[in-house]
Amino acid sequence: MNQLVMGGVAKLNAPAYIKHQKLINWVQEVASLTKPDRVYWCDGSQEEYDRLCAEMVAAGTMKKLNPAKRPNSYLACSDPSDVARVEDRTFICSATREQAGPTNNWTEPAEMRRTLHDLFDGCMRGRTMYVVPFSMGPLGSPIAHIGVELSDSPYVVVNMRIMTRMGKAVYDVLGTDGEFVPCVHSVGAPLRAGQQDVAWPCNPTKYIVHYPETREIWSFGSGYGGNALLGKKCFALRIASNMGYQEAQQGGSGWLAEHMLILGVESPEGKKHYVAAAFPSACGKTNFAMLIPPASFGGWKVTTIGDDIAWIKPGADGRLYAINPEAGYFGVAPGTNEKTNFNCMASMRENTIFTNVALTDDGDVWWEGLTKQAPAHLIDWQGKDWTPASGTKAAHPNARFTVAATQNPVIDAAWDDPAGVPISAFIFGGRRSTTVPLVTEARNWVEGVYMAATMGSETTAAAAGQMGVVRRDPFAMLPFMGYNMSDYFQHWLDLGQKIAAANPAALPKIYCVNWFRTDAEGKFAWPGFGDNMRVLKWMLDRIEGTAGGSDNVFGTTPAYTDLHWEGLAFTEQQFDTITSIDGQAWVEELKLHTELFEKLSYHLPEALAANKAELEKRLAS
Ligand code: OXD
Ligand code: MN
Repeated sequence: MNQLVMGGVAKLNAPAYIKHQKLINWVQEVASLTKPDRVYWCDGSQEEYDRLCAEMVAAGTMKKLNPAKRPNSYLACSDPSDVARVEDRTFICSATREQAGPTNNWTEPAEMRRTLHDLFDGCMRGRTMYVVPFSMGPLGSPIAHIGVELSDSPYVVVNMRIMTRMGKAVYDVLGTDGEFVPCVHSVGAPLRAGQQDVAWPCNPTKYIVHYPETREIWSFGSGYGGNALLGKKCFALRIASNMGYQEAQQGGSGWLAEHMLILGVESPEGKKHYVAAAFPSACGKTNFAMLIPPASFGGWKVTTIGDDIAWIKPGADGRLYAINPEAGYFGVAPGTNEKTNFNCMASMRENTIFTNVALTDDGDVWWEGLTKQAPAHLIDWQGKDWTPASGTKAAHPNARFTVAATQNPVIDAAWDDPAGVPISAFIFGGRRSTTVPLVTEARNWVEGVYMAATMGSETTAAAAGQMGVVRRDPFAMLPFMGYNMSDYFQHWLDLGQKIAAANPAALPKIYCVNWFRTDAEGKFAWPGFGDNMRVLKWMLDRIEGTAGGSDNVFGTTPAYTDLHWEGLAFTEQQFDTITSIDGQAWVEELKLHTELFEKLSYHLPEALAANKAELEKRLAS
């Protein structure tokens, strides 16, 4: 083990296989500031993972689950104050406020650096600082990028090992002077000599800070999810979206970092397409990515490339190619069961870290929605006795599982392909109980970008705050944008224009979907899950030019007879419930688009304003 303490200041003792002096100097600098007792260089081995888990079990941070029920799996329960991403404490500290844009929190970078310097000074006292090298994307892929996270949380280390390509091999790619994104994370809970640690250290003061110019991430005070696993939202979305934009600003083709799942779908004839789909947090992305087609779709196969994030670049043939920068799934557990997502349940049969779910009396896990009937007794996510009469949730609504992508039984054969997979269509879907119909195809790229830009969604538990309120969530990127939202819209428009100029056929189609319309009783009117295959098939048939559709004010939509209904008793009348367009509701909706565009007026692309004007004209006539 590469740990040493010398006179209260941790000695680095960097392993000889690390040849990158700048990296070593940076680790030294951060150690001098944060003053951990030890510095430990992670190698990413199984032995290391097992040891850290055992240490966390001994410390009370994790419980080992019953190996007969859930082999090699653990349950961690967080502090009740640290259960979700903290969007109001997330900052994009670009040089100017305009560069961050009106959808992001911004503080002048020098001021933020002063604030963080004070917070990080000595914040790792009594703890180990782990050096976590990771690749977002297949090691060495031209679309991949490397990061190094310094963290005082062993929980972060073991989760990063599942969620990224983490370990020693990253240093081979970095060599002596390769580029990496420096990520510093602290739970913000230094220990005095002899002070007993708590099971889930954290700090009521939280900062999740991004410096786009220097491509740095600094996270303080939280050990949970996207606040702490810095490869995910912080790097793979906020910093990476900025990198893709900057590349275009500097004359390159530019690229995209998107809050999208990627799936492959193959027809019985062997025709295969890949689609990328953006949905806000906790709207069933993992379910869609692992969808099992209904029995009447004999021979159709859906396979997963990724469930949350896509990095997308133009390839030599002019098409857009996507990779999943992650290597695992950090999914929402509540609501997941054998029926809603069989493949996901199969993925987490073993080697899984659960966070904030409930513990059963036989040492397994449970969450709301796992079984119809709750067990008679549980230990809830806060460690308290729980029975169905308790009147509280046994698992936190944002409880999670962390599993390696390779455990997914329907992982796509190309999921790890450094070249990525060609994207045939983009799908954008909000969670709307009214207004937005089941599916609409954009007639052109601008119309599609407009659909994505004006997406709205009812909020969920993945972010701390009020639930069920409709908020505009452009491209499902609102909490994850690393620069000005209007510049991002322009970046999408520019990329589309470049692709179309070279080869219009290379341009993916764009669809807007809504699985969440409700009926008069307030129940979901669309069965969703596997039946979303019916919508997916229509899209693929459209791509192949074999499906019908008719134009309405927003775009092209299927008639009842354009969808495959075998195996589902869904009447034309029910179809109307989820596809009808309420003109008055849309007039109100358009007012909200106006509000959004007023907020984003700085650099708002003219093409989007013109699209809106056209839409208003069509609605009025
Ligand atoms: C996630 C999220 O965890 O979007 O994927 O919040
Ligand atoms: Mn997400």
